[in-house]
Amino acid sequence: MEIIADPYQFQAWCASLDGAQALGFVPTMGALHAGHAALIRASRRRDERTAVSIFVNPTQFGPSEDFTRYPRPLEQDLALLGNEGVAVAFTPAAEAMYPAGDSVQVEVGELGERLCGASRPGHFRGVATVVAKLLQLAQPARAYFGQKDAVQAAIVRRLIDSLFLPVELVVCPIVRERDGLALSSRNTYLNPEQREAAKVLSRALRTMGEAYDAGERETAALLLIGRDVFASEPGARLEYLAAVDAATLLPVAAAGPGTLFAVAAFCGPTRLIDNAHIDHNGVYLL
Ligand code: PAF
Repeated sequence: MEIIADPYQFQAWCASLDGAQALGFVPTMGALHAGHAALIRASRRRDERTAVSIFVNPTQFGPSEDFTRYPRPLEQDLALLGNEGVAVAFTPAAEAMYPAGDSVQVEVGELGERLCGASRPGHFRGVATVVAKLLQLAQPARAYFGQKDAVQAAIVRRLIDSLFLPVELVVCPIVRERDGLALSSRNTYLNPEQREAAKVLSRALRTMGEAYDAGERETAALLLIGRDVFASEPGARLEYLAAVDAATLLPVAAAGPGTLFAVAAFCGPTRLIDNAHIDHNGVYLL
């Protein structure tokens, strides 16, 4: 596996692939876990070559967020990428991605202010900006993102459409612990009590899914059921639980194909997100 830190070298490496060698690209912030491995494997099944970026993007963190303490186990991450058969790891420094004088940012408008964007102002501007830079460097045939960050996936889809980027967005299913907790690099912040409380996110979504499967379609009723589950867990503080259209992120009254049930909650100081959605066949997927 090649390890490249310089953006121009990475760009040249990607451009050197001949047309028949489709490139799959998995952008990450490192601290890799089985969820990232699933994205890489999805690419390895479809693409001739897989490139992975590891870059803790400063512009998507708010001033009081966890940028400085975000886990950076680079050696371990590179070993995982090597074992997964990744062709190239891109590990740029912040100054390389945002050179002095760089002032260009990608604004996502109102879409970036909904759900997580409401409590994390500027977060999705930072995500859209770095994803645009990374896609521009790699110019992959396919880019792989996790369904766990469903709001991010909606924004990346809008970015790709708006900028006419010639890349197929592949959104891969959430990978969960056996007890339902969605995998996240931030799960390592949780102490045992917070880890126990964190199960409430998937429990609420699962209970809502049971009601949906039993025939409930009013999102107001489904959300009440989810909020009741949260009320029974004092170790978690709900930030939002919402039923929205997965593309526009606007609230929907009746659950059906394309509805996203998204949740964000704090367990101690750690903010976690999770979601479930209804697929095009009307199946509730957690
Ligand atoms: O999902 C992430 O890990 C990050 O938001 C991403 C897409 C790598 C951009 O920094």
